[in-house]
Amino acid sequence: MRVAMFSTKPYDRRSFEERNAPHGHEITYFEPRLSAQTASLADGFPAVCLFVNDEANAAAIARLAQGGTKLIALRCAGFNNVDLAAAEQHGIAVARVPAYSPHAVAEFTVGLMLSLVRNIHRAYQRTRDNNFALDGLLGFDLHGKTVGVVGTGKIGAIVARILLAGFGCRVLASDPYPDEALVALGVRYGEPRAVIAASDLVTLHCPLTPETHHLLDAAGFARMKRGAMVVNTSRGAILDAEAAIEALKSGQLGGLAIDVYEQEADLFFEDLSNEIIQDDTLQRLMMFPNVLVTGHQAFFTREALENIADTTLGNITAFARGEALENAVTAAGTRG
Ligand code: NAI
Repeated sequence: MRVAMFSTKPYDRRSFEERNAPHGHEITYFEPRLSAQTASLADGFPAVCLFVNDEANAAAIARLAQGGTKLIALRCAGFNNVDLAAAEQHGIAVARVPAYSPHAVAEFTVGLMLSLVRNIHRAYQRTRDNNFALDGLLGFDLHGKTVGVVGTGKIGAIVARILLAGFGCRVLASDPYPDEALVALGVRYGEPRAVIAASDLVTLHCPLTPETHHLLDAAGFARMKRGAMVVNTSRGAILDAEAAIEALKSGQLGGLAIDVYEQEADLFFEDLSNEIIQDDTLQRLMMFPNVLVTGHQAFFTREALENIADTTLGNITAFARGEALENAVTAAGTRG
């Protein structure tokens, strides 16, 4: 099948080329992000392949439909960037990669936690300048601390297990569908507000939905324990970055590590080291010594890239053969 891939980076091209032989799809790699303006690049392609910051809004989808697109194959798990109702209206199927390596994201999350509570990111910079002083780097043990895991799906559940077994943390969790296996291991479920209020460290692993949008806003930060920390590897808009700045300034928020940012679409995945960044919020955040920002990197392991390519190519093959789409996403819900 002819596939137009948007937002292509060299590593996407490499992993898809390596795994495409059994599928034999004809993939054209485009660097621009999908938007209503760039959708015409896909004219004549029955399938498009999108990533997290491609903007498949109603206008872009209408333009894709005009060009003959029948399938949106997401090479990611989240699908908050696709207007599913518009896709359905235009008869465009949507498929995703429900799990490519939850371990990749979970392990990275724990890495961010450790860096945050032990100031590893600061030590790295200091020692490169031959500054071996410890003053200002005092951390705390994770052992015995209370960690709140918001969302215990594939990723959150692994984070919870690592924290329980590896560090001896007390784990609280919130999820509309509690995981009984975690309960058996000692995880205690509660309402998100109560979990956030009782935790020394909160880690976000729920999807971005109207309900979770700005779950951590000014009131949310105010409810936390003074000096508690937050890690977000889920989606940027679950956290209000402006409110985080105020909470960091007052000391209410003791540290923040984010791999995702609400306005990341124009920034992340690009080398902007020669540019003047116009986003004052992100720039302000990065000025805090107790803030750690990574550019949507949590998924980025060899294993994850292989799984992403295999599942995405498999989704396209199933669609081309007219088979039921195991990993379909519809306005009514998801399969797979
Ligand atoms: P999942 O679908 O397995 O788990 C999400 C869990 O959140 C589910 O158990 C669901 O019941 C729960 N949930 C839904 N609404 C909730 C709410 N209001 N409060 C608490 N829990 C709620 O998804 P998975 O694979 O664990 O991924 C989690 C999120 O991580 C994804 O939605 C995606 O946005 C993000 N992600 C980030 C990556 C990165 O590179 N930074 C890579 C992959 C995923």
